[in-house]
Amino acid sequence: MINEILNLQFIKVTASSPIKGAEFQKITLRPVVIKGENCFQAERFKDNKVFHLNLSSSEFEGWAKVVLPLYAQVCVFTAGKTITYFSAKGRVKRSECKNDLKGQVNLSNNREKDYILKEGENIPPLVDLGVFTPDFKIVKSKYDKYKQINRFVELIDDECGKIEKEEISILDFGCGKSYLTFIVYYYFAKIKGKKVNIIGYDLKQDVVENCNKIAKKYSYDNLEFVVADVKKDVLSDRQIDVVISLHACDTATDYALYYAIQKGVKYVFSVPCCQHEINLSIGKGGDLDCLLKYGIIKERVSALLTDSIRAMVLEDMGYKVDVIEFVDLAHSPKNLMLRAKKTRGIKLVNAPEIEKLQSAYGFKQTLYSLVKNTKS
Ligand SMILES: C[S@@+](CC[C@H](N)C(=O)[O-])C[C@H]1O[C@@H](n2cnc3c(N)ncnc32)[C@H](O)[C@@H]1O
Repeated sequence: MINEILNLQFIKVTASSPIKGAEFQKITLRPVVIKGENCFQAERFKDNKVFHLNLSSSEFEGWAKVVLPLYAQVCVFTAGKTITYFSAKGRVKRSECKNDLKGQVNLSNNREKDYILKEGENIPPLVDLGVFTPDFKIVKSKYDKYKQINRFVELIDDECGKIEKEEISILDFGCGKSYLTFIVYYYFAKIKGKKVNIIGYDLKQDVVENCNKIAKKYSYDNLEFVVADVKKDVLSDRQIDVVISLHACDTATDYALYYAIQKGVKYVFSVPCCQHEINLSIGKGGDLDCLLKYGIIKERVSALLTDSIRAMVLEDMGYKVDVIEFVDLAHSPKNLMLRAKKTRGIKLVNAPEIEKLQSAYGFKQTLYSLVKNTKS
């Protein structure tokens, strides 16, 4: 079966009815072109979530040989023909029928319908920020950033697109050049037609000045950039609906989350970056010491531990939290997003586990410390 599939020019393959050992409930595969290379993209479905995996042509064969046999039903859709393989009791039954699919396949990895912001759409600040060319094409070197901000806005749209309030207030922590801030403003003000107030905070005076200049140039009212150290300066005291942060350095992310917790902000979208804190202080202390033996593994484990603790603290503080891969690793090595929605009151379920980890492995985690010190 697999060799035949590998030799077919397919438009799509679906694998369903998982058998023992399959991690996902269903997989859809299609050929795509990523940065000019022919590749395959697998959409893997589990617990109502989709996980994307891009495979180069050379990786695909090995992957298919291991994964597809874990599904009892595999359907291969080619132009004009659908072939179904059904496996039971060690035997594979093959059937074939005609279909109306044409040979033309959309090989784009980023099908336009998936995008809220479309290439070619007149979004002038993106030209000023160097993401679009003057004729609104994506600048090649900014493709990954474009992908990140587009996906970020899609995720905001999923959660906040139906907010019925007339006016929405948003803070962006560590906004930097503010590609995301401008786009979130554009999404709410221009696409959704809402009144929106956004403040972007950053340490860097020159980038803040430039962003204010661009906001003024396009009369983006109520979009403001402020020089601030989010770890110590006094921030907005108005009611905020959404806190966002994209790659705010190290513990700046903790201060964004802490602000949201303290102010009971309903929606949080935070993609952390350079999680150095735990990596610099963690020491041996338990069953998982082997994960601290090699520098690069220690660094990655520390980053994951940091984000797990952040998610656990948010949960204790009454948020429903999802940790998701917001873009594929190819578009950013820091691709985990903490997506949180305040749904209930405080309940310290995770705190004892965090305490135990901190004392066993000798580290401190800023968000946990901030929350703990506030309570006592
Ligand atoms: C990697 S950049 C990300 C910028 C932007 N969010 C993006 O994704 O393009 C991180 C930004 O966080 C800012 N930053 C770091 N620590 C900060 C702090 N304590 N207060 C405010 N901004 C901070 C930096 O100046 C920098 O511009």
